[in-house]
Amino acid sequence: MVTVDNVNLDVLELIFSHLAGNDLPSVALVSRAFFAAVIPRLYSVLLFCLSQAKRYPGVMSPFAAIAVHPEFAIHVRHVDIRALPSVKDQFNPKFLIECTRALALCHNLTSFQCSVNAFPPFISVLQKKDCLRDLRINANLTTEQCSKMVGGAAQIRHLTLDFACWNVMDLLPRWAGAIQSSLTTLTIFMANELNETVLESALEQLPNLLGLHVIGCTKVDHVSILSLVHHTPNLTALSMATGDSSRALPTPAASLANLVHLALDMRFQNQAPAFLGGGTSAASVVLTSIFTHIAASSPSLTSFILKYPDRQTPPTIAPTFVQQQLIGAHGRTLKTIALIDCYAEMDVISAICGSCVGLERLEVMIPARDSKLFTAALSNSSTLRLLVDSNALNTQHPRRSGPNLTHDSLKQMFATVASLTKVVGGDRRVWTRRRDVHASDFTVGVEHKPTVHSAAIHWFMPRE
Ligand SMILES: *[C@@H]1O[C@H](CO)[C@@H](O)[C@H](O)[C@H]1NC(C)=O
Ligand SMILES: *[C@@H]1O[C@H](CO)[C@@H](O)[C@H](O)[C@H]1NC(C)=O
Ligand SMILES: *[C@@H]1O[C@H](CO)[C@@H](O)[C@H](O)[C@H]1NC(C)=O
Ligand SMILES: *[C@@H]1O[C@H](CO)[C@@H](O)[C@H](O)[C@H]1NC(C)=O
Ligand SMILES: *[C@@H]1O[C@H](CO)[C@@H](O)[C@H](O)[C@H]1NC(C)=O
Ligand SMILES: *[C@@H]1O[C@H](CO)[C@@H](O)[C@H](O)[C@H]1NC(C)=O
Repeated sequence: MVTVDNVNLDVLELIFSHLAGNDLPSVALVSRAFFAAVIPRLYSVLLFCLSQAKRYPGVMSPFAAIAVHPEFAIHVRHVDIRALPSVKDQFNPKFLIECTRALALCHNLTSFQCSVNAFPPFISVLQKKDCLRDLRINANLTTEQCSKMVGGAAQIRHLTLDFACWNVMDLLPRWAGAIQSSLTTLTIFMANELNETVLESALEQLPNLLGLHVIGCTKVDHVSILSLVHHTPNLTALSMATGDSSRALPTPAASLANLVHLALDMRFQNQAPAFLGGGTSAASVVLTSIFTHIAASSPSLTSFILKYPDRQTPPTIAPTFVQQQLIGAHGRTLKTIALIDCYAEMDVISAICGSCVGLERLEVMIPARDSKLFTAALSNSSTLRLLVDSNALNTQHPRRSGPNLTHDSLKQMFATVASLTKVVGGDRRVWTRRRDVHASDFTVGVEHKPTVHSAAIHWFMPRE
């Protein structure tokens, strides 16, 4: 007879691969067999975030656990450090030693993220990581520290540099050269020293690049990027910030025939609110010019993300842009649309839902007060699975969308939009459709997830 104790280890591992979070440690306590099956999964991701840093050293860090059980180190694939414990304005030296020692044992590490300004202590230990493919770091480094990175980890596929300072940008072309055969995605976030000359020297060496994301770099706008993408003809994903609407785009337009993901950060020299909204505003002019430009190589976008500057009173996205450019050219292929820090009129929502025949994920500011009208607009889609209130990620103006969605309004939404399975509200509550035993009916489940993975992925990156 099959009991939980004699099920094959492979089978248990397979079952536990569906678990996450606190369920894993709980399962580990059930029995020896469960413990053995859960370990690989429990140790594959080592995440260290603020709540853990605050309780350190009272609560053991996952790195200390590796020190106690070095045999578990082979299971570690991903390390994600989002906070560090500190003592007297300094990073806790005990933690740093514990963490770097553990990392030294993790030979199978494939991805490393350090999103706080504390990367230098980890540089040495990452040198000999032959499996390391994903690297995201806070790149506030000296020239010497950066040179070490350029000389080390040579098989990087996805490189994300946050807050890179000029020393690092100086070395960017050399770094690009060193990893040109493996690199497929380059992301540069918030590097004010990055300029077109340096970026071009890097991109010249990356003809096979598939993803390019340059956001928050004031000297590099959409005109610069669109002037450089002829170096990277295979791009499938592109994120850029808009600049002065009067600057002319390069002609002829470089081919972006493979492009499927486009993210735009609406930035302007003149950021008066009137400038951003309305039909003939600078925002609308820039959006239209970019879409006309890329139309030259007729790509088919599956994913579009648009973000406006974060304001207490967000602008409204121009309906003509959505109707003519966005759904006019890409309605047949779009699966994900995210409109962040801007309102979309109900007509625009219903046009999106009606015309984007494959739409699966929609991220917009959900007007909780008008949830009836909003639900009616959504009902135009028969494919929408996931709805996210784009306010959920906003920490500056968390309650901008007004009251919370209620259980009743959610029930109405799930009843009206048959394909919808999940809604993330502006208050970060996650609502799910739960099938009833009577298959014709359903109930609405809700959980509160105060920490959506906001730090895990930049807003402009392709979802999933
Ligand atoms: C990497 O993981 C595999 C199991 O997935 C293991 O057999 C191997 O020993 C590990 N390699 C190192 C260097 O730890
Ligand atoms: C870089 O780090 C130094 C201290 O290590 C700090 O003073 C400076 O503000 C940091 N710069 C950025 C852009 O984070
Ligand atoms: C561009 O940036 C590089 C590296 O920071 C710097 O050496 C160069 O002088 C800059 N060029 C211009 C034109 O600003
Ligand atoms: C781009 O992709 C094509 C086909 O997928 C491939 O043959 C080519 O080598 C790639 N690189 C460049 C620079 O075109
Ligand atoms: C649904 O979308 C279609 C196509 O855009 C549009 O013509 C129609 O008015 C929409 N329906 C509603 C109820 O808004
Ligand atoms: C919205 O929900 C959050 C948490 O679910 C709660 O803390 C907050 O008070 C609610 N706000 C309103 C206006 O009901």
